Amino acid sequence: MEKTTLNNFDTDIRNSIAQSDEQQLELSLRPQFLREYIGQKKVKDNLGIFIKAALARSEALDHVLLNGPPGLGKTTLANIIAREMGSQVKVTAGPVIEKAGDLAALLTNLEEGDALFIDEIHRLHPAIEEILYPAMEDFELDLVIGQGPSARSVKLDLPRFTLIGATTRPGLITAPLRGRFGINFHLDFYPLEDLQIIVERSATILGARIETDGARAIAMRSRGTPRIVNRLLRRVRDFAEVEHDGVITAEIATDALNRMEVDRFGLDEIDRKMLTTIIEKFNGGPVGVSTISAAINEDKEAIEEIYEPYLIQIGFLNRTPRGRVCTSAAYLHLGLTPPQPSLTPPQKDLFQ
Ligand SMILES: Nc1ncnc2c1ncn2[C@@H]1O[C@H](COP(=O)(O)OP(=O)(O)O)[C@@H](O)[C@H]1O
Ligand SMILES: [Mg+2]
Repeated sequence: MEKTTLNNFDTDIRNSIAQSDEQQLELSLRPQFLREYIGQKKVKDNLGIFIKAALARSEALDHVLLNGPPGLGKTTLANIIAREMGSQVKVTAGPVIEKAGDLAALLTNLEEGDALFIDEIHRLHPAIEEILYPAMEDFELDLVIGQGPSARSVKLDLPRFTLIGATTRPGLITAPLRGRFGINFHLDFYPLEDLQIIVERSATILGARIETDGARAIAMRSRGTPRIVNRLLRRVRDFAEVEHDGVITAEIATDALNRMEVDRFGLDEIDRKMLTTIIEKFNGGPVGVSTISAAINEDKEAIEEIYEPYLIQIGFLNRTPRGRVCTSAAYLHLGLTPPQPSLTPPQKDLFQ
């Protein structure tokens, strides 16, 4: 998540985030307009229509919920929405809003048509969430002032604004909150072709020279994720510049990725540790996420938000009611022999 503080709402996100060089680079690669946003065609097409319609009616865009694994472009899209609407965006995150007053301050500082971006909206405190309901629905703020018998409630009118919420865990969003978003988009992992276009676009911005096959080699190992494709591009470029003439070819990319231990499926050390642990310590599963988390010493949230979604997507892991199970494909990828499925009585009959 981005580091933002409440007193630091600059209209331009760039100024409001403490950045390392790496983050700075990531920002420079961020598409600014919808037409520059690669892939996610359905989302882009629909969003384009909703924005056009709202603009034609001179209305604020309906509230938008963006969900999907980290690095797929939620924050990027939130900023694009505001820019395409010609509005200002204020940025915050669920865990940052601690008190009702924090949210009230944010809401009352909005101007007509502004966007309020709440990242990690699933981590909002329930009491804060309740303040959002009337704000989203009726553009009203219900505040209780004072305490005890002298407490009274006041209603404030808010400007019409667009709430943009982003979450990596849509399942943790309460039904009343979800129901108040008129627009709800799910971002999928990107197919190879899209990732390849993203690497080529990023290479152009960075001034890196890359061959088509080199771009493809990086795209193939990027777990369907633009943030990862951009990160691997920067690292592969280091190899190409230090050990070669700077041009990223397929051979150089593949060699660099092997040396960084990013495998053919884009799995890294932690993915592999997770799969091997499930297979070796728990007979391939089913095993609960908390148990996996303790066994490999990785944060449970990180497993659920970052590692597991992609392993499920490529068919290496299944989620069952009793826990996670490794598939035969995972065994084979790790060079292990998958267990033979035990024959159930009806199948035995077939052989008699
Ligand atoms: N559709 C896209 N086209 C091009 N680049 C993208 C796209 N989506 C994401 N990116 C790149 O990936 C990086 C991470 O995206 P971000 O919006 O921060 O992801 P999220 O908020 O979902 O974690 C951005 O810096 C951007 O450069
Ligand atoms: Mg983000």
